[in-house]
Amino acid sequence: MNDYKQTLNSYFEKVNSRLDELLKFSPSEFGVVCEAMRYSVENGGKRIRPVLVLESCRICGGDIESAVDVACALEMIHTYSLIHDDLPCMDNDDLRRGKPSCHVKFGEEYALLAGDALLTYAFETLSKANISDDKKVRAIACLSSNAGFGGMVGGQVIDLKSEGKEISYDTLRLMHSLKTGALIRCAAQLGCICAGASDEQTKALTEYANYLGYAFQAVDDILDVVGNQDILGKPIGSDAESGKTTYVTLFGVEKAKQIAKELTDKAVGSISSFENNRFLVTLANELTTRKY
Ligand code: IPE
Ligand code: IPE
Ligand code: MG
Ligand code: MG
Ligand code: MG
Repeated sequence: MNDYKQTLNSYFEKVNSRLDELLKFSPSEFGVVCEAMRYSVENGGKRIRPVLVLESCRICGGDIESAVDVACALEMIHTYSLIHDDLPCMDNDDLRRGKPSCHVKFGEEYALLAGDALLTYAFETLSKANISDDKKVRAIACLSSNAGFGGMVGGQVIDLKSEGKEISYDTLRLMHSLKTGALIRCAAQLGCICAGASDEQTKALTEYANYLGYAFQAVDDILDVVGNQDILGKPIGSDAESGKTTYVTLFGVEKAKQIAKELTDKAVGSISSFENNRFLVTLANELTTRKY
């Protein structure tokens, strides 16, 4: 556990200090958008996706340092998805990462633009990352397809279209696989690309991330009902207010917790072929019992 915490902290530090550098803009007439980008990315996020990029790279024998900018690019995409997710036309939530949501602080128009700017800056960052051109092209393909209409955005479409309706478990699974799973699978795959991982390694880590993504959204749904807003840093009861179907509305809290645990066990089972898999095993278990 101590090893886990130490590694987690070292990943946090690498990612946070690089994000800090990447988001230090000189004052300009675009100042408000730069300030909004920085405000939303700043500390407060769990950094699960960049951590998964770095650890996937390490476990496949790659150089973590070469993956830091790639990990930061993914965190920018994730943060943009949160800014837009909170907008009044989406989930209409006022609190994010323990602070007023981007649109509450800067206004809707600048929150929209800060999200757009983070999306494009992610690809600018990726284009300058310290990896070979071949890896860069593969990373760009991976990030764009998982973030776009066939990935995270597609999942958000299903989420919005499902509001106020009873949806089936299959539709819920598809929605979660896209809106949340896509960027988590992408994290594992980006780490594999940076490391030059084998097909078997990539397959195993993608399967791990796939189950992790399902479990992660199941826990997110549970915390939206039984969480503590001060610890969670975002509003409780948002899903019920928007009429969302979740693991909790379909199964109740206890059964949803059991499903999350089963999904976590499947995630752990997917990486049994890796020798030094302790960090990823602990990460999966910690995310299931998380309070934020
Ligand atoms: C929240 O993601 C959105 C979901 C996909 C459930 P996180 O729980 O990873 O949010 P941060 O990055 O820690 O704020
Ligand atoms: C978010 O799902 C998925 C995204 C792509 C941002 P939620 O809407 O449940 O995320 P939170 O609970 O607002 O963080
Ligand atoms: Mg949402
Ligand atoms: Mg939301
Ligand atoms: Mg949620």
